[in-house]
Parts: sequence; structure tokens; C-alpha cells
Amino acid sequence: MRVYLDNNATTIVDPKVFAQMEPYFVQMYGNPNSLHDFGSETHPALRKAMDQLYCGLNADDKDDIVITSCATESNNWVLKGVYYDHILGKDKDHIITSEVEHPAIISTCKFLETLGVKVTYLPVNEKGIIETHTLKNFITEKTALVTIMWANNETGMLFPIEEISKICKETGVLFHSDAVQAVGKIPIDLKKLDIDFLSFSAHKFHGPKGIGGLYIKDSQPLTPLFHGGEHMGGRRSGTLDVPGIIGMGEALELAVHNLDFENNNVRKLRDKLEDEVLKLDDVFVVGSRDERTPNTILVSVKGIEGEAMLWDLNKNGIAASTGSACASEDLESNPVMEAIGAEADLAHTALRLSLSRFTTQEEIDYTVVILNDAVKRLRAISSTYSYAPDWHDSKL
Ligand SMILES: Cc1ncc(COP(=O)(O)O)c(C=O)c1O
Repeated sequence: MRVYLDNNATTIVDPKVFAQMEPYFVQMYGNPNSLHDFGSETHPALRKAMDQLYCGLNADDKDDIVITSCATESNNWVLKGVYYDHILGKDKDHIITSEVEHPAIISTCKFLETLGVKVTYLPVNEKGIIETHTLKNFITEKTALVTIMWANNETGMLFPIEEISKICKETGVLFHSDAVQAVGKIPIDLKKLDIDFLSFSAHKFHGPKGIGGLYIKDSQPLTPLFHGGEHMGGRRSGTLDVPGIIGMGEALELAVHNLDFENNNVRKLRDKLEDEVLKLDDVFVVGSRDERTPNTILVSVKGIEGEAMLWDLNKNGIAASTGSACASEDLESNPVMEAIGAEADLAHTALRLSLSRFTTQEEIDYTVVILNDAVKRLRAISSTYSYAPDWHDSKL
């Protein structure tokens, strides 16, 4: 049996999405900017896709949704655009983010630091989210932007986005949210919130890879990352990926349509898996269930390196993730586990299981059996688990 429990990394393209995209590869392949019929026959589907995106995020007509190649691009664009528009040669020099953002934010912040930008990386609590009062303490008149993710990719923990957006509004600071792990999993209503910029990516909600977007409130100016043929009203040059845009629109509409299912059935399966995992000795899961996206579990299985577990599961057809990169000699620990203050030996034991609306009960039952067996076998040969006398103490 093959079981895919790595849906926070990427998801299967919904066959209904693929069906909408397919004709635009081989039949209606024209460039939408061309003046002939090959170009213009793509327009109705593109218009429909943009409507689906506005609807899915409940964005206002006066807001902009700009198509990008991925959320990494969207995140880079916001940070570098704000640098050009509000920091370079201006009186602001400060950006605030959190310690647990995706590398698409952290690495871009590190790059901006080399250009003289001051960046505050807010610490997170034991659940892996920031306390909003810490945010207030760090905002100054020099702060140009606050960028905080909506849901964490490792833990699924949801950040207090409404509160953060209010603080930014009150203090007159721009607010960006990397909502890659939230869009399609929880309701998003951009008419209700004061969010200036929001990044999303189709492949996280059963759309195609290589297509994403940036929402820009009130169509405010943002210096482009890509200059060229003035596509997307000059906001982002580059020939439009017609099938990708159509796929992303359809995928978002289906995801929003399936939100109740996501919240009920996916959550039920996730909770069932979590209940079974928690029956094992010496495991803990980061964050409580109702504070997380409905599909995610980050579990620490004491005494077992995440990579060893991953390898064992993979041998049995189950795909999961550790959230850490495996360097040639060192096994790197999970960065979120480190940020929440887990000791080094625990930070190495993280295993991320992320479900989707395509996950079945049968797959979860199979995973529980394999996981139980793997834990028994791997702990039997784990020197750390057998010899450490204090494994039963909390290490956090
Ligand atoms: C929170 C978060 N931000 C950004 C990204 C990058 O998205 P993309 O693959 O579209 O560049 C990811 C992907 O895992 C993510 O989880």
C-alpha cells in the first residue's frame, strides 16, 4: 500500500483541476497577450480563474491579486518591494518576523540584513506561535513591515492573524502574511481583515506546482521583482502560465467548497491518527488540535531520529517528513522544535504527518500498524532510548 502523508510539502493535483487545465496545453495554447484568436480564446478561462481567486479569498475588487510562480516568489517580492519602497533612502529600516517562518521569508530577511535592514525574529512560545504582546514591544517608528505566517508548515499551528493585523493597523505598519499553509485549509476572508499582502501557492491545495499568488490590499504600489513586458498591469512581467492559473483558480474553488469536509473528515482522520500515536510511550505532539490546521501532526517520538523513522515508513510505502534537512554527516534538527525550546535530542525526533482530503480511513489504519511496529523495532536498537534513564521526564 502507498500512503501519502506529506501534504504540507505538496499535494496531488485534483483530477477535476487537471481536467480544466488540460485543453490549455495542446488546444488553446495561445499567448493571452497576443491579438489573434489563439490568444483571445484563453481570456474567458483566465477571467473565470481570477474570479475564483477573488472569491476564494473574499478579496475586494479594489484589491489586486497578482499571479506569481510560487509563494517563494511572492514572499521575496513583498520583502524586497517593501525594501525599495519604504526603506531604501527612506526613514524606515526595520522588519519584524518570527523565528519559525519558512526559509522563503527567513533567507530573504537574512539577505536584506546584508543591505543594512534591521530584522527582529520574534521568539515563539512552547506551542510554536508568537505572543502578540511581544510584537507590540518591538514595533517602532522605524518599522516598515511585519511579516508573520498564518499557519506553520511544520506544526500546523495557527497564528493570531486577526490580532496581529489590528496591531499593525493601529501602529501604521504594513502587514504581510505567508498564508501558504492556511489557504484552502481554513476560511480566509480578506474583506474582514487588515492584511496588506498575502502569499499563497496552488500546489498546497491540490492545484499545480509552479504557480502562486500575491494579494495586495487596495492595489497599493509595490516595486516589481520582475521587469519586462508589463504583464499583469506591469506588476509582474513574464508570459502568463495559462493552464497554471486556470488550475489554481479551480483548485481554490474546490478547496473552499470542500472546507467543511476538510474540517470534519480530514480532522477526524487526523485526530484518529493522533489518538493512536499518543497511545505510544514517550511521544508528544506540538500544540493542541483545535489550534492547528485540521490536517497536520508534528510528533516527537523519543529515542528515534526523525530520518530513521522516515526511512522505515518509506520502506513500507508511507511518505512523511521530518522538516529537517539531512546533511552529509550531521542530522539536522527540526528548526521549529528548536525554536520552541526542545532539547537537542528531542529536536532530532520530529516526524510530520500531514493529511489531505484524499487521505482515506484505510490508509490511516495501515499507517497506525506500520508506525507501531517501526517504533518498537527502532527503539529496540536505539542506544539513546534504552540507555537514557530520564526519558520519561519531560525534556521541554
Ligand atoms: C509556509 C510556507 N511558505 C512558503 C512556502 C514556499 O512555497 P512554494 O513552494 O510555492 O515556493 C512553503 C512551502 O512549503 C510553505 O510551507
